[in-house]
Amino acid sequence: MCGITARVGTDDSLDALLASLKNLEYRGYDSAGIAVQNGTGIKVSKHEGEVAQLESQLTSGDVFGEVGIGHTRWSTHGPPTNENAHPHTGCQGRVAAVHNGIIDNYTTLREGLQSRGHEFTSDTDTEVIPHLVEERLADGMAPEAAFRETVAQLDGSYAIAIIIDDDPTVYATRNGSPLVIGVGETANYLASDVPAFLEFTDQVIYLEDDDIAVITPDDYRISDGNGSWVPRPVETVDWDPEDAEKGKYDHYMLKEIHEQPTSLRQTLHGRIDGDDVILEEFPPGTFEGITRVQFVACGTSYHAAMYGEGLLSEWGVDANSFIASEYAAYPAPVDENTLVIGVTQSGETADTLEALQRARDRGARTLALTNVIGSTAARTCDDALFIRAGPEIGVAATKTFSSQVATLVLLGERLVRDVTGEPTDEHSQRLAALESLPGDVETVIENSQAAAVSRRCLGDTGHFFVGRGSAYSVALEGALKFKEITYEHAEGFAAGELKHGPLALVTPETPIFAIGTGRHQNRLESNVREIQTRGAPVIAVAPRTDSELADTADEFLPVPATHSALVAILANVQLQLVAYHAANEMDRSIDKPRNLAKSVTVE
Ligand code: M6R
Repeated sequence: MCGITARVGTDDSLDALLASLKNLEYRGYDSAGIAVQNGTGIKVSKHEGEVAQLESQLTSGDVFGEVGIGHTRWSTHGPPTNENAHPHTGCQGRVAAVHNGIIDNYTTLREGLQSRGHEFTSDTDTEVIPHLVEERLADGMAPEAAFRETVAQLDGSYAIAIIIDDDPTVYATRNGSPLVIGVGETANYLASDVPAFLEFTDQVIYLEDDDIAVITPDDYRISDGNGSWVPRPVETVDWDPEDAEKGKYDHYMLKEIHEQPTSLRQTLHGRIDGDDVILEEFPPGTFEGITRVQFVACGTSYHAAMYGEGLLSEWGVDANSFIASEYAAYPAPVDENTLVIGVTQSGETADTLEALQRARDRGARTLALTNVIGSTAARTCDDALFIRAGPEIGVAATKTFSSQVATLVLLGERLVRDVTGEPTDEHSQRLAALESLPGDVETVIENSQAAAVSRRCLGDTGHFFVGRGSAYSVALEGALKFKEITYEHAEGFAAGELKHGPLALVTPETPIFAIGTGRHQNRLESNVREIQTRGAPVIAVAPRTDSELADTADEFLPVPATHSALVAILANVQLQLVAYHAANEMDRSIDKPRNLAKSVTVE
């Protein structure tokens, strides 16, 4: 779990490297470092903590170079200390390396190196890389060959970039961790993800596993593990550089909540035509023969998957959702008529990738529902469907949840038409409501009283979220968002489960958010009364038209009336705002909550 970056130019690369590292902090932020070379040896500067701390130690002007690599870390091997921060160098300081991923066989490699006299200065698995390259250079190997031979010795998942003291080149490779080249006019770039260098170039090349890239200021070469040249297309990324920045908002999370009308429009653009769903990638008939659908996902994406499961089940498709790490532990039965859908914003979540691999190994057809073109999930699944939400930087997933669910509604429509026959009238109504969703989200954001409601949650001992049907997945998501950025106890329940245990937790200090969709309303209202009897304040989040719930609750966060299948998406926007404002009042690190990272690329 880390972000790596590199720049090769003819002018100083330091500022660009620092800018790229800041753009990558969503991938990890417990230490950061850079290494540059300018023909007079390699200079390394690294520091525990965020990139800002690294920057503050680089004011003397003696660290500069045309060729450089950078790293922002989320620890896996060894605690976040200055010593364990990347880049790492070999004994002679001739080679510096940055790495994202895990080298499984590093202990064996390290012992071998130590027995040959190499001395290590960190606890990391990464440090074996520069030592191995230096050893080969000392044997007289050319730099590219030395790098290639080193990579051939590594087992595990990795994206790696190295520089060598007297060589104006970056050498890089990947296996299971993302890596993208940015082709600039006066310099070339490399990073774990496009936003790192988007302010410098929008021309990108997604590297494939086992590619070896050799990048110079005005050229790049990509070859496979055997050394044969491989063509990789240069693609234009149409994200505006502004998209990857905070703009006028205090936090990326708030910006991304406010972006939802736009991102949802992007998600839906060109995909609905009257009663028809148009998914270019999946023409009618694509899913004929599918008899069973399974979703695998983690965290917020799992809540979106639950939403998808509910939709499909209701429409008569055999569907189940699984927490990806559990699916890997206890895989459910699949056959060649099973479609396993990995819902993953990043497309890089290790647990989800492993679950998809399990399903693939056992003969299922796999589909990645993801935000990131070129991500591992998109490239390794049989099919990919993109949610088109644009880059999401805040660790807390917001706009991508809305776009995931909207995309799942579209995919569900295609699936149900292929699997069970023709759509019903209800499907047309749902599609019409889906087209209105961006405007409805806009209405929620413009009129939300979530900030005032969140203030009444400060100092409470627990925060509960309840709902039925599609609102149950949003209850779980509302609680996840709240706990993840406020660090306060929050839990979501199926409203009907309250009386089977959780009611024991309910007191006047545990506000309860009750999410109504317009369905199962009587039951939800009786749950609300049960809660109020125990003295807990109830905040109802429901359509404006639900006067009963509005009158019963202590507070009411209304959403526009729409198709009942979509109400919970609107309610979720209110809950995102509640979590955001509560965390802001508490002065939490909203975009980078403690102990968390945006892409969880380790199991
Ligand atoms: O990239 P993914 O969607 O696969 O990530 C899965 C989870 O790590 C992620 O949804 C996480 O729960 C959210 N960042 C929480 O807001």
